[in-house]
Amino acid sequence: MMMSSSAALVLALGLILVNFTGHCHGALQVGFYRGKCRLLVDVESVVATVVKAKFIMDPTITPALLRMQFHDCFVNVSPLTNLINCTTICSFMNKLKGTLCNVMISKGCDASILLDGRASEKTAPPNLSVRGYDVIDAAKAALESICPGVVSCADIIAMATRDAVSLSGGGRYNVETGRKDGFVSLATNVNLPGPDIPLAQSVATFAKKGLNATDMVYLLARDNAVNLDQDPASSLRVDNSFFKQIMMRRGILQIDQDLATNSLTKATVAKIATGNDFNAKFGEAMVKMGRVQVLTGNQGEIRKSCRAVNKR
Ligand code: HEM
Repeated sequence: MMMSSSAALVLALGLILVNFTGHCHGALQVGFYRGKCRLLVDVESVVATVVKAKFIMDPTITPALLRMQFHDCFVNVSPLTNLINCTTICSFMNKLKGTLCNVMISKGCDASILLDGRASEKTAPPNLSVRGYDVIDAAKAALESICPGVVSCADIIAMATRDAVSLSGGGRYNVETGRKDGFVSLATNVNLPGPDIPLAQSVATFAKKGLNATDMVYLLARDNAVNLDQDPASSLRVDNSFFKQIMMRRGILQIDQDLATNSLTKATVAKIATGNDFNAKFGEAMVKMGRVQVLTGNQGEIRKSCRAVNKR
C-alpha cells in the first residue's frame, strides 16, 4: 500500500529528530575520560593532585569550589531555549554550531562562570566574591600539557569540587563527566537566589533546575563555610553540623533559619541532624546539581583556556 505524502513527511521528520537527538545529547557518565587522555592517563587523579596541593596550603578552597559550582550551574535559561532545543536547532543547522545554536543553549553547568569579560557572569554582584579560579586554571594547564583539548572546564569544576569535599572529610562521591564548555557568559543571565529569598521561592528556584526540596536542604550544608560552626575542627568540614546548628536557631542567613522551621523542609533538616548518612546524600545532591542544563555530545566545546572561548 502506498503511503500518503503527508504521512511520509511526518515519518521522515520523526526519523530525523530521533537521529538528531542521539547525536546531540551525549549522556554524562562516571569515568567518561577513561582511555581518552593518552590511553593510560587518569584524568581524575591529575585534577586530584592539583586540588590536594592547593588544599594543603588553603583548606578554604572547599567552600570556594562548592560555591563556584553552584553559581556556575544556576544561570537563567530563556523560555526560547527550552522551546527550541538542541534537537531542532543544532542538528539541522550544524554549520551554525558555535554561533546561534550555542548562544541559545549555553546556560547550565557549562563553566560559563570561568569566562573573563567586561559583562561576564564573574561581574554579577553575587559572583564578585567567588574564589578558586586559580585551582581550575592549574588543573586545566596540567591536563592541557598532557592531552590538549580533551577535558572540559565544566568537568574540571565538578571533579575539583568533589576532590575538595573529600579532602575536607565530606566523603567521596563518584562524579559524572562528559560536559562541554559553553560559549556565553553574561552577568544578566545569573539567576541565584538572594540571601533574603523566602524559603518557598528558593524551593521553586531549585525545582526549576530539577532539584527537589530535599536536594536543596542537603546542598545548603555549605554554611559550615560561612562559619556558623564554632567548633574549629569541623567549621571547614562538609557535614551535618550545619543542620544541628540551625535546629538550635543559630542560622545566620534567614533562609538557613527558615530551613529548620518551614514545613517544606523541617522534617528533612531534623532527619539529617540526627542521621549518619549525610555524606552519601550530600554526594547524590551534588551529582544531581552537576547535571543542571549541561552541554554534552556535539554541543559546546572543550576550551583551551577556561577563561576564554576558543578562537575560530
Ligand atoms: C538559597 C540558596 C542560597 C543562598 C541564598 C546562598 C547565599 C549565600 C551567601 C549570602 C553567602 C555569603 C557570600 C559572601 O560572603 O560574599 C554564601 C556563601 C556560600 N555559599 Fe551560598 N547560598 C545558597 C545556596 C548555596 C548552595 C546550593 C551552595 C553549594 C552547593 C552554596 C555554597 C556556598 C558556600 C560554600 C559559601 C561560602 C563561600 C566561601 O567561603 O568562599 N550556597 N551563600
